[in-house]
Amino acid sequence: MVHEVRAVVALAKGQPVSVETILVPDPGPGEALVKVQACGVCHTDLHYREGGINDEFPFLLGHEAAGVVESVGEGVTHVAPGDFVVLNWRAVCGECRSCKRGRPQYCFNTHNATQKMTLQDGTVLSPALGIGAFAEKTLVAAGQCTKVPTVDPAAAGLLGCGVMAGFGAAVNTAPVQKGDTVAVIGCGGVGDAAIAGALFAGARQVIAVDLDDRKLEWAKGFGATHTVNAQGDVVAELRELTGGFGPDVVIDAVGRPETFRQAFDARDLAGTAVLVGVPNPAMVWEIPLIEVFGHGGATKSSWYGDCLPERDFPLLVELWQQGRFPLDKFVSERIALDGVEEAFHKMERGEVLRSVVVL
Ligand SMILES: NC(=O)c1ccc[n+]([C@@H]2O[C@H](COP(=O)([O-])OP(=O)(O)OC[C@H]3O[C@@H](n4cnc5c(N)ncnc54)[C@H](O)[C@@H]3O)[C@@H](O)[C@H]2O)c1
Ligand SMILES: [Zn+2]
Ligand SMILES: [Zn+2]
Repeated sequence: MVHEVRAVVALAKGQPVSVETILVPDPGPGEALVKVQACGVCHTDLHYREGGINDEFPFLLGHEAAGVVESVGEGVTHVAPGDFVVLNWRAVCGECRSCKRGRPQYCFNTHNATQKMTLQDGTVLSPALGIGAFAEKTLVAAGQCTKVPTVDPAAAGLLGCGVMAGFGAAVNTAPVQKGDTVAVIGCGGVGDAAIAGALFAGARQVIAVDLDDRKLEWAKGFGATHTVNAQGDVVAELRELTGGFGPDVVIDAVGRPETFRQAFDARDLAGTAVLVGVPNPAMVWEIPLIEVFGHGGATKSSWYGDCLPERDFPLLVELWQQGRFPLDKFVSERIALDGVEEAFHKMERGEVLRSVVVL
């Protein structure tokens, strides 16, 4: 059976997104059909519609989602119809050279559904991050479904990308150690989750950096102990706030050459700079090699916060339920499917952390 559902599609580069009717096949072997209940609007969706990820238009957008499994294909045993799940975009294979070395968080061959979703005329859609969940139903690899306790889907869905990426960048990638000083550049959904993660990991100082004072105010609600407006000299101000040395860890949740340069320069000697913001393919970072050597320490990139969904999603739900992680605070507003284009503009104007489509 083919399911006809409404979904948000980016038909062409830089053009406003539109709500289209799409065709979703029943799950084949190893796949699951999910009835989407909520899906957050992430900056990565905007990167897709701007052509900043690749040119495989049309894109079926949306990838921070929670919902209920409607049906599963042959051979699927770990989820069943009726399960409440958060979708993840790195379903590890268990067989590649990284998985076999015991590093599944870097899996080099993550799984997506093999069947395609299409427009009504048969045009194949590219689902954002292999998910495509601004849709009433979506088809994914069963491993992309992570079971969590049944909670508000609008909040839970955010674990599927930005919140996990930010939290994990601090806790898993850096990793922040107790007593560290930490700065986070860019306080959107990803950056604020990194702030909360740094606090959870025991940082003694967490400095929020953003161009927008409203974002800095919100960042305090996630645990920032200090704020720096990025219109000033970020490196100098971070040093000043850390006894003249710079933070032990600086996390770049913007992903531009100038912000990564600030992260690189501002950290203490032998400190760590983490890139979790996603640059576009045209961006170039040039640096004298002697500075890489002379500064020591590490520069790291963080794919999905180096998370393991089955380990980390239920953990974050539990921390939220215990009042130790403010997951619901990321939900700025609940919107309908046709509100995604406007939500991109609100994101650009800095008015929201996450607009969440509720279905
Ligand atoms: N690595 C991953 O796995 C992963 C996962 C999800 C999102 N991302 C990426 O993380 C980035 C942030 O996503 P988001 O959803 O939080 O975006 P967002 O638009 O909500 O937040 C970005 C923030 O950065 C601030 N900012 C912009 N330029 C700045 C500058 N020069 N200095 C300081 N602050 C600046 C903005 O004011 C805003 O508050 C995006 O690039 C997104 O694609 C990465
Ligand atoms: Zn693998
Ligand atoms: Zn995302």
